[in-house]
This record gives sequence, structure tokens and C-alpha cells, in this order.
Amino acid sequence: MKNVFLVMGTRPEAIKMAPVYRALKKTPGLSITVISTGQHRELLAQAMQAFDMSPDIDLQVMRPGQSLSALTCSILEGLEKTFERHRPDLVLAHGDTTTCFSAALSCFYHRIPIAHVEAGLRTYRIDSPFPEEFNRQGVAKLAGFHFAPDAQAKDNLLREGVSPIDVCVTGSTAVDAIDAISEIRRPSKSHCDLSADKPVSVITLHRRENGSETLKGMLTGIKNAARLHPEMTFVYPMHPNPSVRRTVLEVLSTIPNLVLREPMEYRDFIGLMARATVVITDSGGIQEEADYLRKRVLLLREHTERVNGLGEGRTCIVGTNSEAITAAISRSLTSHLEAPSDAVPHESPSLKIAREIVKRLA
Ligand code: UD1
Ligand code: UDP
Repeated sequence: MKNVFLVMGTRPEAIKMAPVYRALKKTPGLSITVISTGQHRELLAQAMQAFDMSPDIDLQVMRPGQSLSALTCSILEGLEKTFERHRPDLVLAHGDTTTCFSAALSCFYHRIPIAHVEAGLRTYRIDSPFPEEFNRQGVAKLAGFHFAPDAQAKDNLLREGVSPIDVCVTGSTAVDAIDAISEIRRPSKSHCDLSADKPVSVITLHRRENGSETLKGMLTGIKNAARLHPEMTFVYPMHPNPSVRRTVLEVLSTIPNLVLREPMEYRDFIGLMARATVVITDSGGIQEEADYLRKRVLLLREHTERVNGLGEGRTCIVGTNSEAITAAISRSLTSHLEAPSDAVPHESPSLKIAREIVKRLA
């Protein structure tokens, strides 16, 4: 029996690792342990519950508003104790968070092999996204095996000197998560009071590199667009990050057609996106999901590491300027979009990852 440890700490990691966890659990010869760093608390619990997943080991490092240094130190200390007690044959971590980077560093210190899921995404701008671009480049230096979501991510890794035999292009496990959640039947927990026949658009924003002034400008751009389009209901499930939430409440609380929400159950959120006219976001993960649902996406970032939707013109990089945001939202609500091509049939990325892991551990 080989011991494989999955390390995760934030909402997107739990969602995109859940299908990998389910695929690995069904694979003979593997014993799977989930370590939660607890970088997130409520968000992580909500995402894990959606997939009936729970941590075997929980480091519980979250402290309100903690600094990146404090977070990194707590995760490194917690993982050190865990890795000294148990010696996994392989660790899997996902993406570009502080949890992922700290897991890779801890594995390196303890000489434990680590495989990186969602490897090779790059903007090559070290502060955009901050600190995630550094985190993922750092993880690439430390990982022994790289699961790339697409060919471009693989090329990035090869250019950085990773050997082709250590890279496998799998597709994004975000797609598996959407497929999996539509099969799990259970009543919704996120209260939904939106009338089914009214048009809705979705907003999510929480990136660290947008300081409070930039964020205020972006939110003002959204507010002005909402005022110009009273026929549209804009739904914004707010991230709990206190500095982001404070600014969102300050700028957006009094707009009648702008509904501020607590974080939604993953399945309800996917359902909301599926009926949305436009998805307005600074999240790369949501860019992928919305594109899989063939939605129009406005990316409120200067750069993206993902190609999803850009080629077909469904996804548009709008940036962070207030007036540009108002104009882009207005345009997207009043202009016609070509009927999207159908999603291309694909093999499950998570099953591909499970298969490759078995090969590597043999
Ligand atoms: C982190 C990741 C980011 C990812 C995002 C997903 C890093 C550096 N950033 O950013 O890449 O896109 O998660 O959401 O790893 N909080 C709560 N409850 C929660 C979660 C967060 O109260 O369940 C509050 C806490 O005060 C916490 C703060 O939000 O200190 C910020 O959380 P943190 O994980 O440091 O950064 P995010 O901005 O969430
Ligand atoms: N999500 C969710 N409920 C919400 C908002 C988002 O379940 O209210 C999901 C979304 O579908 C995506 C993930 O959370 O899978 C994105 O997480 P987040 O915005 O925290 O991080 P990011 O993608 O920016 O790294």
C-alpha cells in the first residue's frame, strides 16, 4: 500500500482537489490522507462538505487577517510535525496558494516527493497575481511531477527546464468538479430568493494585489454599470477577507439591483453561473468554470495565466480601471454574442492524474 497525502487549505484547492481525491480513493493499492492546513476556515469547510470530504489531519492555522509571513510559518511548523510522524510516499498539492507553496517547501526539507496539480500556469509578472505567481514558479522548482492543465502550461514548464517525462497534460480538474457536483443530489443550503425569470449576472472579486484604492475604483465601475442597467440583478457572493469585505460593503451596499451575499454553496454558485448573462470576476478558477459553462466572462485583472475563452472572444480582459469596467459591463449586456461552440468531449483530468500517480509509484 502506498501512502498518498493531499494537502489543501483554501476553497479553490478543496474544490479542484475533490475530484482527484475521489479518483484516488477508488484506486487500488493507495491509502489516501487529506491534510487541511486550515488556511481558510468557513470557506474550506463549505467546499469540502459539498463533496463529502473531510480532513484526516487539520492544522487549523487561520487567524483573522493574518499576514502572509505568519501564515507561511504556521503551515511550515504544522507540516513539519505531520511529516515527521507520517512519511507519505507522495504528497499532492494544488495551484498557487501559500498552502501549496509551503507544502512544496516542507516536502523539499523532508525529502518527500511532491506532485503539483494545475502546474505551469504563468503570467511571468511576479506581482500579478501576488503572491501566487511566485508561489507557482517556486513549486515548479520543488515538485518532482507536474500535472499541467493545458499544452501552454506544459510549454512553460519545459522552457523553465522541467523534463518532459515529469509533465503530464491532464486538463483542469475544475471541469471534473462541475461534472461531479451535478451528480451529487442534496437540498441547497444557500438561500436563493432570486426570481427564476429575472436576468442575473455574477460578481466575485478578492485579489490581494488590488489595494483598497484600486478595489474601490473597480467597485465604483461596477456600481455605475448597475445603475445604468436596472433590468439586471447583479449577485455578489462576498469573500470573507475582512479588508475586501469592508470596501465592498462601503461602496456597494445601497444599490437596489446589486445583491450582496455570503459565500454560496459550490453547487448553488455553479447553478447561479449557469443562468448568468455575464460573469464578472478576478478569479482564474471562475474564468475556467464559466468558460466550461460557455458563459461570457469579464476579467477584472490586467493579465491572466489562463487561455480559457480568450480565443473565442467569450472572455475579455477588462483590467481594473473604473470607467473601462462600466463600459465593458454595459457593452456585454447590450451586444450580441456568437453562439458558442459545444464543449469538446474530454477524458476526466482527475482519472488521468490517478493513473499517472499509480505509474509513478509502481
Ligand atoms: C487565498 C489565496 C488566493 C486564493 C484565495 C481563494 C494565498 C496567498 N492566497 O487568498 O490565492 O485565490 O485564497 O479564496 O494563498 N477568511 C475567513 N474565513 C475563511 C477564509 C478567509 O475569515 O474561510 C479571512 C481571514 O481573515 C483571512 C483572510 O480572509 O486571514 C484572508 O485569507 P487568506 O487565505 O490569507 O487570503 P485570501 O485573500 O483568501
Ligand atoms: N465559489 C463558491 N461559492 C461562492 C463563490 C465561489 O463555491 O460563493 C467557488 C467557485 O465556483 C470556484 C471557487 O469557489 O470553484 C473560487 O474560489 P475563490 O474565489 O475563493 O478563489 P480563486 O478562484 O480566486 O483562487
